Amino acid sequence: MRVRKAVLPVAGFGTRVLPATKTIPKEMLPVVDRPAIQYVVDEALEAGIEHIVFVTGRNKGAIEDYFDISYELEESLKKKNKTAILEQVQQTVMPAGTASFVRQQSPLGLGHAIWCARDIIGNEPFAVLLPDVIVKGKPSCLAQMVKAYDEVGGNIVAVDPVPMERVSSYGVIAPESRDGRLIKMSGMVEKPPMESAPSNLKITGRYILQPEIFGLLADQAAGAGGEIQLTDAMARQMESQAYYAYEFEGREYDCGSKLGYFEAVLAYALDNPETAEGARELVKKMAAGL
Ligand code: UTP
Repeated sequence: MRVRKAVLPVAGFGTRVLPATKTIPKEMLPVVDRPAIQYVVDEALEAGIEHIVFVTGRNKGAIEDYFDISYELEESLKKKNKTAILEQVQQTVMPAGTASFVRQQSPLGLGHAIWCARDIIGNEPFAVLLPDVIVKGKPSCLAQMVKAYDEVGGNIVAVDPVPMERVSSYGVIAPESRDGRLIKMSGMVEKPPMESAPSNLKITGRYILQPEIFGLLADQAAGAGGEIQLTDAMARQMESQAYYAYEFEGREYDCGSKLGYFEAVLAYALDNPETAEGARELVKKMAAGL
């Protein structure tokens, strides 16, 4: 069965970028001219996703409003004949029935957030995109993964190589065999010491999962940080189902960290036709200390 639905968990507190995220969801922080979450939704749509489940929490209302019609704003832009910007605003509206919002009452962990989407996903494979990670790629990271999924099925996690001396900061996979960008996994390890790390392939925020994960999440005990971890349930699912890693082509930006967010803004500003030239000049001047 093809991957039609995606879960975007957005119920976390975003403590790493406080106080910016005290009243604004971190997923709504702008990257040049659109909120970070717009890039992630676009990635999902490019991959053929037809329905997105946002797992939200209190103070996240701005996300729901962003993907809805803004009647007064649109009327005002129409009256002023601002057609170009009106079109851009209208493109952010998700067609009726293609988005669902469920509440995770308290942020008990990523695994718990995904479990909150179980009734809407039902009994079919689905994608998970962590919306604080933006991936620049053509085709989009999830589109690359879906293509691989259509060939091999099972469960797939996106991975990205990191220098060996940094593996102890991430979850990394243990590879069994490799065919191009697709790697059959034999396991995964959370934050391994460099000497015993099974690879330098870090798990990124994109997954394609089989629905049996929900049964495992239902009784998943709290793990690292006292949170219900998705990776703990994935490790259990691996005992009975095939897991692959996909080394995607592209570049990821972790907008949940201060430096990652800054890097994302810079990269997209350098890429946007409206800002590229000015951004390049600014970078040159700043690097020269002017
Ligand atoms: P993170 O751990 O990166 O997000 O979770 P966070 O908890 O918001 O950030 P920090 O660590 O406090 O700075 C990855 C994604 O999972 C969501 C977050 O919103 C984020 O998009 N998440 C995490 C939930 O929806 N619920 C949770 O209980 C935990």
